[in-house]
Amino acid sequence: MRCLGNNIERTINNIRVAYSDEGPVDAPVIIFIHGFPFNRCMWDKQAEALSEHYRVITYDVRGHGKTDAGYNDFSMDVFSADLIALMDALEIETAVLCGLSMGGYIALNAMEKYPHSFDALVLCDTQCIDDTLEVKEKRMKAIESIRKNGVEQYADESIKNLFAPASDATKQNEIAAIREMIVNTSRDSLRKTMIALAERKTTCRKLQEISIPVLIMVGSEDKITPLTESQKMHKNIPGSVLCVIENAGHVSNMENPDMFNEQLMKFMRQHAEKPIRMSARQLSVSQ
Ligand code: MLT
Repeated sequence: MRCLGNNIERTINNIRVAYSDEGPVDAPVIIFIHGFPFNRCMWDKQAEALSEHYRVITYDVRGHGKTDAGYNDFSMDVFSADLIALMDALEIETAVLCGLSMGGYIALNAMEKYPHSFDALVLCDTQCIDDTLEVKEKRMKAIESIRKNGVEQYADESIKNLFAPASDATKQNEIAAIREMIVNTSRDSLRKTMIALAERKTTCRKLQEISIPVLIMVGSEDKITPLTESQKMHKNIPGSVLCVIENAGHVSNMENPDMFNEQLMKFMRQHAEKPIRMSARQLSVSQ
């Protein structure tokens, strides 16, 4: 599929990470983290809209898109350590972080571990809870089914839950693009990521400690991370803003990019900060 951006690669944490870095170099930075099992191409419409005024980074999470899987197991800790290593490599002191679904799990993990690295947070179609036993079992069954029946069947099953019913007719290109992202993810990375998702810890207890601006967005018909989960996060994150994206399911940024981008741009105008000179991480180390 079409994947906007300048397609750069760089080695961090012993893997080659594929990313795109566009927009004015001295502008406030926004970093996008995709969901599972997609890749950074899912943010094309956002990168296009924002890169005139902001430095926009989209990257493929370990094992997804064109980023190496490496040899070790995956976890939310590993994914957020990769994010910070990429920020360090790109000399990004602080950024607005925008994650969708698994991207949101990574963002909330990173927020707990590296709170001084972020100016603001955008949580899209995501949640703070860990997996129930039932969801863990579903993931183990999916791993088994991929082993037996292959990725194509898994992609077709997944697609059924990802989009709002109305998108079936109107978002054929987006559905095809997401399917392509899924089938291009290796079996091993699918397995390793599903285990990481099943083993992830809740981040709900820490929400009240978040003191940066937070925008929560969710598709009105998201079946995977439903509105009720966004409402819970909204209630617990002081000063957060909740926006329901109409006519959208779980991939709200692709299903209704106009409304999604309008809310995101409004939030960026209010909260994105110009890059600062010295890293908050360096400052906390030197103090
Ligand atoms: C995603 O879109 O990242 C996944 O649906 C997350 C999950 O399976 O929990």
